[in-house]
This record gives sequence, C-alpha cells and structure tokens, in this order.
Amino acid sequence: MYINFWYPVVRSSDLTNTPQRARILMHDFVAYRDPAGKAVVLSDTCVHRGGSLAGGKCKDDGTVQCPYHGWRFNDRGECTRIPSIGINAKIPPRARVDAYPVVEKYGLVFAFLGDIPEAERPPILPIVEANDPNWRSTVVTFDVNYYYERSIENGLDPAHNEYVHTTHGHQGERESEYRMDQLEPHLNNPWGHGFLATFDAPPLKNLIMRFARKEGGKMQAGSGTYGPNHMWTFIHFTATKAMHQYMFEAPIDQDNTRIFLVNFRNVLFAKTGVFTMFNNWLDKKVNERNMFVASQDITVMNKLQPTLTPPSTAKELLMPHDKCIIQYREKLKEWEGRGWKIDVEVLKASRERRDTMYAIPSPIRHETKAWVLDPVPLVKPSTQPQVTQQAAG
Ligand code: FES
Ligand SMILES: [Fe+2]
Repeated sequence: MYINFWYPVVRSSDLTNTPQRARILMHDFVAYRDPAGKAVVLSDTCVHRGGSLAGGKCKDDGTVQCPYHGWRFNDRGECTRIPSIGINAKIPPRARVDAYPVVEKYGLVFAFLGDIPEAERPPILPIVEANDPNWRSTVVTFDVNYYYERSIENGLDPAHNEYVHTTHGHQGERESEYRMDQLEPHLNNPWGHGFLATFDAPPLKNLIMRFARKEGGKMQAGSGTYGPNHMWTFIHFTATKAMHQYMFEAPIDQDNTRIFLVNFRNVLFAKTGVFTMFNNWLDKKVNERNMFVASQDITVMNKLQPTLTPPSTAKELLMPHDKCIIQYREKLKEWEGRGWKIDVEVLKASRERRDTMYAIPSPIRHETKAWVLDPVPLVKPSTQPQVTQQAAG
C-alpha cells in the first residue's frame, strides 16, 4: 500500500451533508459535502480524545462536529471551536486533523492520500471518452475480500479470460486458436504499462450483449495500469463497438478492497430519439453483466495464494503474457524506492497493541509542524548501492 496517490472515496451521488466514514490504506477518513456542495475528506480520528468525526454532524458553517465533545473542524482540518473552553477561547495550533486534496471526476470523489506538493502528484487516470457524447458511462462499486494488488494483477492477466469467463471464451476447447503471447504495448506512461491483444472469441451468448457483438472471430482487448490502483480495460467487440472499463481501487486493508468501476460504452444506448427511454434499463443490464463477469473473477481470486503480492517472481512460473504483471510490480518497487510504501508490519504491530493511532500525512504538514498524530510509518528506501553484474572475462 502506497501513499501519494489518488484514491476513490465514494461515488459523487452518494456524498451528502451527513458525514460518512471510508476506510482506505488501513486508515479511517470522514467525507461530506459542505453547504456550498464542495466535497471534503479529512482524517476521521479527532485529535482531542480519538472520537470518530464520521459519527458527528455537518454544521452550517461548513465544519464537521465531533460527536464526543463537539470540537468543529473546517475543510482545511483546522479546529474552529472547542465548546468546553468558551466561545472566544484561543484554539491551540495542534488542534487540527489532516485534510486531503479532493477532486470529483467521472462520478467519483477522489482524495489525494499523501503529502507531496501538487506539481509532483501522480495524476488521476485520464479518460478520453469522459466528455464525448458518443460514449455513455455508469458507475458501480463493490467490495472484494482480497488485496487490491492481486486484483489489479488479475485485471492485467490476458490469459485467464478463456478459462475464468466461460461466458465469452472457447473454454480452451479450441487449443489451436488460443494463443495469448502476442501482446502489443499500449498506453505506456510514467505511472504504468498496458497492452492490447487480438484473439479469437466465439459469439457472445448473452442476448443483450449480442447487440455489441454477434459474430465470432477476432476481437481485441487489453488492459493497463496508472499508479498502483487505477486501471483500464478496453474491450473492442468490433472495429467500432467498444466498452472501456476503468477500475479505481481503494485498498481497505490487506484482505479487503473497495472497487469503483466506471464503465464507458459506445454501444447499447441511444443518443437521441424515442429509444433513449431504454437507456436507463440498458445501464442496469450492462452493470448486471459486468457484475456477473466480476463474480467469475471473484470465485478464483478468493482462493488465490499467496494472498499478497509475492516479493519476487522466483516462486511463480510466469509466461510472456504475464509481462504486464512484472511491469506493474516493477512500478511498485519504484514507488517503494521513493519512500511511499506504508510499513504495514509496523502499522499492524501498533494495531495489535491498540494504543497508537497514526494518520496518512496530508500536504498541510509542510506548512506547520504542529500535529497530534504521527504520520503513518513508511518503508525506508533501501540505502544499499545497486549491485551490477560484471560480464565475465
Ligand atoms: S474526541 Fe472529538 S471533541 Fe473530544
Ligand atoms: Fe477477469
């Protein structure tokens, strides 16, 4: 798990002026809309005596009020009122919680969970179809009981499609036509890698999906990553009909992940005319179909071992089509090298003792040293010099 990336917190349509709690990176956050409609994400742990701000109330002045002793915190995380010391009392500078940069995009509320300056922040995965009227989007969210990196690796794995998704593969019955070793690099970027593959697939069986593709034969699909927890999957049913799926994953802890799936499609909806009345119904059918496909992955992923990302590939036997998984792990190592990886073992030890709370540090920590909670422990980048293999002779 890594700080200094954008994490999905909640669907925009689900965020109101009632504070709600979200658990991400093994930490709790409170999210709410202030009276101006702006989304706010703060660390959930009140620095007075540890109340959960999400159990409190939003006030008319845009603050969230802790349910325990009524301290109020604004959208910068600053405490603006401590009722028990009087209305004009001076608020101590350490009376503040971390407040995170927030962006609403693609129907989601994203929080930047980290402390690096804006210019250095990895972007949110760009979606070029986002404002194109030829594409229609839906957003669904679901929880899985496995680690987000294993989930991302599953999305990067082109060879499982044939066997896991029996709804749309040959189930390995046509061995001569099932090859997955010709991957074209696609959308490589400083924050991840991707590929597209062309392969043979049977006609889709689902009656509604047959509007997208009714013939068998060659089709193209692929996927890639953007940061540790954003990924794209393109399914090109034909040269002109496609679905582009974007997964934004929030690691809850090492065994649980909340997935936000933003599905764009340029088929199965009407742009104008009387048939637009079916669009909402088609949205529902597409989402049901996506969740059915996800359930096929979940069945396999629930039994995957090891449950965490292996530290090296020596104890797996990877094939050429696993290249993107290797590239993803290399990126994770790169971000570990920048000092962005949470030291989960130290964090877990504190949770076992149950006597210490940490906070994911926010950019405001660079403006003041006055904090109550320490920042989450991070894995120190290796100080060992790189050993280079010398050529013999
Ligand atoms: S714990 Fe929040 S006001 Fe006391
Ligand atoms: Fe899958």
